Amino acid sequence: MAKQFDLIIKNGAVLTSDGVGRYEIGIKDGKIIQLSPSIDSGLAKEVIDAEGGYVMPGGVDAHVHIAQDFTSGPKGVMGKCADDFLTGSRSAVCGGTTTIIAFAQQNRSDESLLKVVQNYHALSEKSGAYCDYGFHVIITRPEVQMLEKELPKLIEDWGITSCKLFMTYSSMQLSDNQLLDVMYETRKRFMTTMIHAENGDLISWLTNKLEQRGLVEPFYHAISRPPVVEMEATHRAIVLAEMIQNPVLFVHVGSASAAQIIRNAQTRGFPIYAETCPQYLHLTWDDLKRFHSPKCFENSKMICSPPPGPDDSDQEALWAGLRNGTFTIYSSDHCPFRYKDVHGKALGVLQHEQSLGSARCPVDQEHLSEILDDKTGHFKYVPNGCPGVETRLPLLFEYGLKTGRVSPERYVDLVSTAPAKLYGLYPIKGALIPGISDADLVIWYPNDALPSFKLTNANLHHNVDYTPYEGMEFGNWPRYTIVRGQIVWAEGELRASASVGKYLKRGTNQLATRPTNSIASDKRRVATWLYKA
Ligand code: URP
Ligand code: ZN
Ligand code: ZN
Repeated sequence: MAKQFDLIIKNGAVLTSDGVGRYEIGIKDGKIIQLSPSIDSGLAKEVIDAEGGYVMPGGVDAHVHIAQDFTSGPKGVMGKCADDFLTGSRSAVCGGTTTIIAFAQQNRSDESLLKVVQNYHALSEKSGAYCDYGFHVIITRPEVQMLEKELPKLIEDWGITSCKLFMTYSSMQLSDNQLLDVMYETRKRFMTTMIHAENGDLISWLTNKLEQRGLVEPFYHAISRPPVVEMEATHRAIVLAEMIQNPVLFVHVGSASAAQIIRNAQTRGFPIYAETCPQYLHLTWDDLKRFHSPKCFENSKMICSPPPGPDDSDQEALWAGLRNGTFTIYSSDHCPFRYKDVHGKALGVLQHEQSLGSARCPVDQEHLSEILDDKTGHFKYVPNGCPGVETRLPLLFEYGLKTGRVSPERYVDLVSTAPAKLYGLYPIKGALIPGISDADLVIWYPNDALPSFKLTNANLHHNVDYTPYEGMEFGNWPRYTIVRGQIVWAEGELRASASVGKYLKRGTNQLATRPTNSIASDKRRVATWLYKA
């Protein structure tokens, strides 16, 4: 006889962004269909005993780079993401994330955003995925006619309701004028505009000055981007956004000073959203000289933009921002480049003649090891970014929830519910509502059931040859990850294939999206006449 449930989860401490309670969860056909104090085990094909561990909605990581080729830096240096949709999503589910939103990147040679999206989608279909996924688009050609024609199709046909704009990287940087052009179009369509806020001109000026002094080892990447670089761009983007009343989201905020500028705008009542990421809570400039010697090229593993703060005083301010709502979401910015790879961090040596010395270029993968040893490289040729999709939930659980820096409810909001709302996926994702929500779940070990361990890269399931969090202590880790009712990760083992994940069409921002009338009519800051008929 057909069972009423496919799966029941018993004895869990069910945690949502609203609170925690003792409930049992009944799942059928990929959906949560019952949440009640007790469900008869005999009604299900399979039962998981959560033994008092937290059971919560699966993580929603709204900022991951998968299968993306990067052209960045003054020479348009290429970097290729080490993870495709299979390995990236595999790593996601092994760390409790059940939905990822990746970037479909328009290069300046791409005329059509729709074609870009079709190409990324084809890649994801080809490899398959272990979890559900959607796309944001990166817009580098802000041509109004193309935007007018294509944005409605992106929204209707693909459910893509967010775009990312860059204020740095010569191959992506938009001028203020261009930022306004795009924001003016996205505003009309309630799309979420994500901003990478760093002053690209300031970075190249400082980079030139560092080069003149011969200061080009990986550590100087941070020195070429002191926190004021992010602060200035954040302030400028807020001025532009407020002028035309287009709410924006600041991605990967790394400095206390940018967080403060964002907080001030939020306090004025203008809807601004912000994201921070694990690297800014756990790394500092010191990590850019962590390996063997302060000058060795291996420090390039820690290069990301913006860089982490100079010291842990920025970290304390960011933790406060996670608590007090300055940060709406906490994402990984998983940007996977292998260290020993001709498409990865090694480009920082391979593109730098002085470091390469007598070695012949192009260098093939096989001979890379000998060449990288004892080299210093140049930071400006290193692809920017660090891996982290798998460590995102465990890091915030260990160092945020367990330490009391964030409450359990806030934890769920930051890693799952708020990103689902912000990117139009709620309450299918980010919630546990019977009859409505997908059965995407993470089950943690009960307190102290998992012996604490030091993380090493071999524990992880990405396709990257390092983790920035090597050696950090963990006392818990997702015990089970369930995607639409299918157990994909169980007690340290991958249990499914990459056929589980589905493409997600998303709706628009479900958080408050429009400024209030009193804010919108402040003629000191707002071009109030712009939207009058
Ligand atoms: O360093 C970073 N964050 N690289 C990824 C690309 C981006 O800007 O998000
Ligand atoms: Zn960025
Ligand atoms: Zn990113």
